[in-house]
Amino acid sequence: MNANMQYNRISFYLNGKELSASIPAGLSTLDWLNKHQNMYGTKCSCNEGDCGACTVVIAYPREGSIVYEAINSCLYPAAKLHGRHLISIEAIGTPEELHPIQEAMLKHHGTQCGYCTPGFVMSMFAMFAMQSHPDKESIFSALEGNLCRCTGYQSILDAAMEISVNYSPDTIVPQWCREVEPLLFSFKQAAYMGEADNANPGLVQKYYLPEDMSSLFDICDSEPAARFIAGGTDIVVQMNISRREFPVLIDLCRIDALNKLYLQRDGLHIGAMISYSQLFESGIAKSDYPALRELINKIASRQIRNFGTIVGNIANASPIGDSLPLLLALDARLVLASRQGERIFPLSSFFIAYRKTALQQNEIIKELLLPIIPRGNYVHSIKSAKRKSVDISSVVTAINLAWDGDRICSARLALGGVAATTVLSGKFGELVIGKAASELDSKSIAEAIAADFAPLSDVRGSAEYRKKLIIEHIAIYIEQIKGRQA
Ligand SMILES: Cc1cc2nc3c(=O)[nH]c(=O)nc-3n(C[C@H](O)[C@H](O)[C@H](O)COP(=O)(O)OP(=O)(O)OC[C@H]3O[C@@H](n4cnc5c(N)ncnc54)[C@H](O)[C@@H]3O)c2cc1C
Ligand code: FES
Ligand code: FES
Repeated sequence: MNANMQYNRISFYLNGKELSASIPAGLSTLDWLNKHQNMYGTKCSCNEGDCGACTVVIAYPREGSIVYEAINSCLYPAAKLHGRHLISIEAIGTPEELHPIQEAMLKHHGTQCGYCTPGFVMSMFAMFAMQSHPDKESIFSALEGNLCRCTGYQSILDAAMEISVNYSPDTIVPQWCREVEPLLFSFKQAAYMGEADNANPGLVQKYYLPEDMSSLFDICDSEPAARFIAGGTDIVVQMNISRREFPVLIDLCRIDALNKLYLQRDGLHIGAMISYSQLFESGIAKSDYPALRELINKIASRQIRNFGTIVGNIANASPIGDSLPLLLALDARLVLASRQGERIFPLSSFFIAYRKTALQQNEIIKELLLPIIPRGNYVHSIKSAKRKSVDISSVVTAINLAWDGDRICSARLALGGVAATTVLSGKFGELVIGKAASELDSKSIAEAIAADFAPLSDVRGSAEYRKKLIIEHIAIYIEQIKGRQA
């Protein structure tokens, strides 16, 4: 399959040093470090984003400052490094002079076999580079994507707490990182593609990195079978675990028009390349979309959220995509773009069958458009999964209710994990609109809604369990509404 396999010639910084490298199409950052640089400090364990052993840090400019983010290098295509600073465990301290994070891990016995340790150190490095004195909750959140099989987490958390008390970003980020920061702002070099050595077969033959929408559509015209890649947290798992081939990938990460997050009169525009973390940290999400923020915090892990996108979650169209019920409940719309122009499309008509969407060939989702939520609406989402972090839902639901005086005047309930697509319940509106909260009977409403669905049984829950979850979620919503109105 690799007769025409290409490489990406990219420029970036590795541990403080400028570098140009030829990256075989689709190669992950982890494989590039391990197999092409013989740098084995970054470990491979699961190769699917679950364990955090492969965590590295990337630094890049965003909204006028440099951000340091932990990412799973097993899922991060190395071509994305173009113009960025990759920081790996090899550059963090030396055996003679440990970094403060390594000192603290040693002091608190935060390591045994050591396989997970580079990942923990890198996650902490990113957290302490961005945040002065994080509290326990922030530390938990930053480390939720790192698993350790032998030490037990308390000693690792003790190490992190000590650093939090004694260090600030200035003492965590070494001078060689600070020296690269201005160079990242002024970075202007272009990436280009070339024919690769046939001896290196891969699952991807060509990996495009267009810089603007016009080049994107040019590539679409010449490569009709191409697939888009945003963060890659769904696509690369399919490559790594199922060995699925994606002969042509078009990475959207360098297109400015897709990297925008802004509020207008028609609502919040979320560009296709806005990561979950960017959305979570934005002031507008904090002030106007608290339910979305709360939900984002329950999706995947910090590392995945740093490069996975909410638009990728929509395009992936999984019936258990966590963001989808809330977006449906909010009546979100999509800006779809192709060579032919742009069209606004309601999310409620976007999912047409299991993992099938209304996207036309070579059409992309340019933006997700969230309406402004009227003050006083009750908006909430519940995710039920076996673990608090890094777990896929059994059932995920969301609700958006509005009042006219003390009567409910509009009601949207959406459910994921109960049918082939995420769905809006038509019946819910019929049961609650026109009623006051005190008139709602949570048991009968919940049971009536659950009766509408015939969920499947799978590893994430039996059909019966899923039905119980539907009932439970609706009962929680209704009791909360009653509490608010009391
Ligand atoms: C360890 C782990 C944990 C996870 N946990 C969760 C979880 O808790 N909840 C959850 O919902 N998901 C979870 N996921 C799945 C995944 O992270 C999300 O679905 C994420 O939102 C995908 O975004 P992405 O940018 O990485 O998508 P990508 O992998 O880049 O793309 C996904 C799909 O969308 C298409 N696509 C992407 N962008 C566009 C666009 N702009 N226009 C058209 N098509 C596009 C791609 O071609 C591909 O088919 C997890 C994944 C991993 C690896
Ligand atoms: S190897 Fe497990 S997350 Fe990358
Ligand atoms: S120290 Fe062995 S896996 Fe964490």
